[in-house]
Amino acid sequence: MGVKFVSMGRYLPDKVLTNFDLEKMVDTSDEWIRTRTGIKERRIAPPDMATSDMVTEAARIALDRANLEPRDIDCIIVATITPDNAYPSTACWVQKNLGLKHFPAFDIGAACSGFLYGAIVAKALLESKIVKRVLLSGAETMSRVVNWEDRETCVLFGDGAGVAILELSDDESDILSYNWAADGNLGDLLIQPAGGSRLPPSYETLDKKLHSVSMEGREVFKNAVRWMGESAEKALQDAGLTKDDIDLYVPHQANIRIIESTIKRVGIPREKTVITIDRFANVSAATLPMSLDCAIEEGRLKRGDIVLLNTFGGGFTWGAMVVRW
Ligand code: ACO
Repeated sequence: MGVKFVSMGRYLPDKVLTNFDLEKMVDTSDEWIRTRTGIKERRIAPPDMATSDMVTEAARIALDRANLEPRDIDCIIVATITPDNAYPSTACWVQKNLGLKHFPAFDIGAACSGFLYGAIVAKALLESKIVKRVLLSGAETMSRVVNWEDRETCVLFGDGAGVAILELSDDESDILSYNWAADGNLGDLLIQPAGGSRLPPSYETLDKKLHSVSMEGREVFKNAVRWMGESAEKALQDAGLTKDDIDLYVPHQANIRIIESTIKRVGIPREKTVITIDRFANVSAATLPMSLDCAIEEGRLKRGDIVLLNTFGGGFTWGAMVVRW
């Protein structure tokens, strides 16, 4: 029996914020953002919409596509760094929204790597028969945690949600290999400093904008290229495959130049690479499931294809996974 991604769904808020809109907000330009990052526009959630609302929308689509009812799910995992609340978990709110109860629902915090981490946890739960069908989401409302006065970070992120439904299956679909890792020594390089137990909210933390993303962009860039490349190569090796066996490469979308460096290193052609950063910017944990869903919609991902997922994020965290779709 293999672990199968039975169906996918995504939800994107309607509001589009273009680089030209950002030119009116901070000292930046469409040209700078496009050439340095690959981003043209991003989606922004309306004020009354929280992360769980977007997950719920995406979940209904994924369930419909799999001809499943909400009650067919017996575990919800949401990967997010922008939960509705510190607690309850966003997964618990999704459970409520779907009219469900009495099974495990929890969040995973691995920043941009959360969906890949979640898929590994889901695989373990399914294979050990602890649960039968997992609703796994990566979802973010990054617009709530960026400093809209900081041109170095506010141009990089967007909002959205992606959902996958996973179960055991006796067809050829399976997760063929994976690796995941973290290096907490580098935690300060990409951090939301305040709002937790280290630095609880105060007038000072608000004044200093410590509740928003803070990062050392160049260090993030260097580490992302190194660890995404290494983990992708390792996952292929562990699956007994080479770069030529890959039908589709789905990397985290933080910067088009990170993606370009990684595909050059691993030797993956650009036409086999899913690029969504131009439309959605960096949607942290939502990036991988949203990109997978786009690839299916565009007819680029079919059953039996070999897919390489690859990610990097705050922590630092990173990993790769080879899936026979
Ligand atoms: N508009 C115009 N100018 C800008 C902007 C902006 N939005 N942002 C920075 N600049 C300026 C800087 O102030 C600097 O000016 P200076 O030379 O006068 O000091 C100049 O542009 C160059 O800045 P650099 O930091 O050298 O630019 P770089 O080419 O490294 O690009 C970037 C910065 C895009 C952040 C890049 O380092 C990057 O993508 N790093 C990866 C970080 C990342 O993607 N983080 C997302 C979250 S992490 C994740 O998802 C994995």
